[in-house]
Amino acid sequence: MKICMIGTGYVGLVSGACFADLGNTVWCVDKNIKKINLLNANKIPIFEPGLQEIVQKNYLSGRMKFTNDLKIAVKNSDIIFICVGTPNLKNSGSANLKYVFQAAKEIRKYINKFKIIVTKSTVPITTGDKIENLIAKKKNKKMFEVISNPEFLREGEAIRDFRFPDRIVVGSNNKKVIKRLESLYEPLIKKGAKFFSTNRRGAELIKYASNAFLATKISYINEISNLCEKTGVNVEDVSIGIGLDQRIGSRFLRAGPAYGGSCFPKDTKAITVTADKFKTNLSIIKSVIKSNKNRRLLLIKRVEKILSNKIKNKKIGFLGVTFKPNTDDMRQSTSLLMIPYFHKKGAIINYYDPSGRKNEFSNLKNVFFCNNIMSTCKDMDLIIIHTEWEEFKAIDFKKISKRRKFKIFDMRNLYSPENMKKQGLIYHSIGR
Ligand SMILES: NC(=O)c1ccc[n+]([C@@H]2O[C@H](COP(=O)([O-])OP(=O)(O)OC[C@H]3O[C@@H](n4cnc5c(N)ncnc54)[C@H](O)[C@@H]3O)[C@@H](O)[C@H]2O)c1
Repeated sequence: MKICMIGTGYVGLVSGACFADLGNTVWCVDKNIKKINLLNANKIPIFEPGLQEIVQKNYLSGRMKFTNDLKIAVKNSDIIFICVGTPNLKNSGSANLKYVFQAAKEIRKYINKFKIIVTKSTVPITTGDKIENLIAKKKNKKMFEVISNPEFLREGEAIRDFRFPDRIVVGSNNKKVIKRLESLYEPLIKKGAKFFSTNRRGAELIKYASNAFLATKISYINEISNLCEKTGVNVEDVSIGIGLDQRIGSRFLRAGPAYGGSCFPKDTKAITVTADKFKTNLSIIKSVIKSNKNRRLLLIKRVEKILSNKIKNKKIGFLGVTFKPNTDDMRQSTSLLMIPYFHKKGAIINYYDPSGRKNEFSNLKNVFFCNNIMSTCKDMDLIIIHTEWEEFKAIDFKKISKRRKFKIFDMRNLYSPENMKKQGLIYHSIGR
């Protein structure tokens, strides 16, 4: 099939590459010319394991094309996926649909034959209706169909998630169009993905309701871990114990920092704002948002306690700063709050992240990027394991703390408290 992906971010580029790998011709469009130039020079603008190889292969075969010329891409495609960002509006928390509507207006200009226009971006209920009305102002309704096909991939696991999804959700009342999407996804359905179709608003809501549910699970176990800390219970045992109940399931029950990333924080806020517009109080999700905000502050307090409330001139080393491993994405990462906070309080901070130096900290005078674990930990007072990167899982802390003994706060529970104690290390973790 001939496909156009508008937006070559985490979702557009990954799904575009994977669609091309399934044998489709894919036009990837981005208005950010820097990204397009990088892609045409065989460089990947984001960090996503495995993506480079797939993009390179399909670019060289001619199945993947990169351009900022939407006209040529739309004219040459039958199915157009809108994959642009939908960040929160600063004051209200609702989804900012500026990029989505802008893309829709641009598509409208170049509709030359029947097009299926798909929102893959996460958009509030009724957005599809609005896009349809917007395009119908200038184009005959017979020339296009607007449908919803939300994306569930996770950064860091995006290729695997795209190729082996649990489910593919399509929202439309047009049976013919649903069939087209089903055949586009046929290779994945054959491998076991469930194809589920519903109406457009239903698909839009499924995405938000899924993310809000997962965020709830994280906040839930985080709160339970607070109780574990007070009562001498190991939160990991509790996670296993409750996760063995198939009605609950074991995933997303690992206590740690507040949830972050480009989706859960913004989507939990946006769904409550949408619900408020429909005079529906999503009180559970509202308390999850509150609980997550508190979580960030609680962990800051925990660090202060570990350092006996003396932060000035303390040396803190961060292992990992991204919101999760295998991505360079910093959006809503706990480190964005913690590092500037401790910096302001007079701490000297080293950080190392396998995805590289972060612009977010470049203006902070006493915050230094280090190239490896050793130089991050050298002469520190406290090491914070912030992100669960693979290379942080087997560090010989005893050896590297020989010169100067530091404390460790493992926010990801990567090490056994007993083993650390045996080695004479001062080790703190979550809910244990
Ligand atoms: N990142 C994820 O893990 C993930 C997972 C599932 C769903 N989503 C949703 O998918 C959507 C995209 O997320 P993302 O993380 O890929 O965003 P992103 O910010 O990484 O990428 C969006 C891209 O769209 C481009 N763009 C914006 N307006 C454009 C226009 N008019 N024409 C061409 N290009 C344009 C931007 O330049 C940018 O490169 C969001 O709604 C998000 O909520 C994201």
